[in-house]
Amino acid sequence: MSLEKPNTMKKKIVVLISGGGTNLQSLIDRLHIPENNVEICAVIADRPAYGLQRASEQNIPNFIIDRKQNKDRWTQEFLGKMDVFQPDLIVLAGFLSILHPAIIQRYKKKIINIHPALLPKYGGKGMYGLNVHSAVIKAGEKESGCTVHFVDAGVDTGEIILQRKVEVLPDDSPEKLQQRILNEEHKILVEAVKKILQL
Ligand code: GRF
Repeated sequence: MSLEKPNTMKKKIVVLISGGGTNLQSLIDRLHIPENNVEICAVIADRPAYGLQRASEQNIPNFIIDRKQNKDRWTQEFLGKMDVFQPDLIVLAGFLSILHPAIIQRYKKKIINIHPALLPKYGGKGMYGLNVHSAVIKAGEKESGCTVHFVDAGVDTGEIILQRKVEVLPDDSPEKLQQRILNEEHKILVEAVKKILQL
């Protein structure tokens, strides 16, 4: 007997990415599996991104909605796709564009983001990628970590769902710290999705 649940029973997640998609891969490996009650129904990137290939390998529909176009048109196209996919949750997993307020309004408490620091510290505009970890090291912090939060109208300001601390070591480079934090991101993102969707 197959353990696969019929599609209609499954909760649906749309994942938004801008880059390599290791967080997406973690969601694929740990959640997007036949015996689970959830599926990644689409992956959307705002630019060409390696993560799209990860989606293709799993036959997950994937699209680029190019960030270089007019923001209103981007938003319309995105909302059109959401009408088709009807997600229960939208996950920003390394997604670098700011979403239009119309999207935030329509999907209140249904969009989450992963950030590589202990918010509210080291969040906001310009705080992405290695910038975050360089700032943490420069400030002489003893610990950093990662945060999953709901997305609201601000940048990295929404309600915190889960955080995980990571020690900053004396000989850390931004790259080394980034990698150790990324390993924890992969875990708490999955935990947060499970918590929200009650899986
Ligand atoms: C992660 O550090 C995430 O916190 C940040 O962007 C990075 C994306 O990594 N928002 P990946 O594309 O999931 O590998």
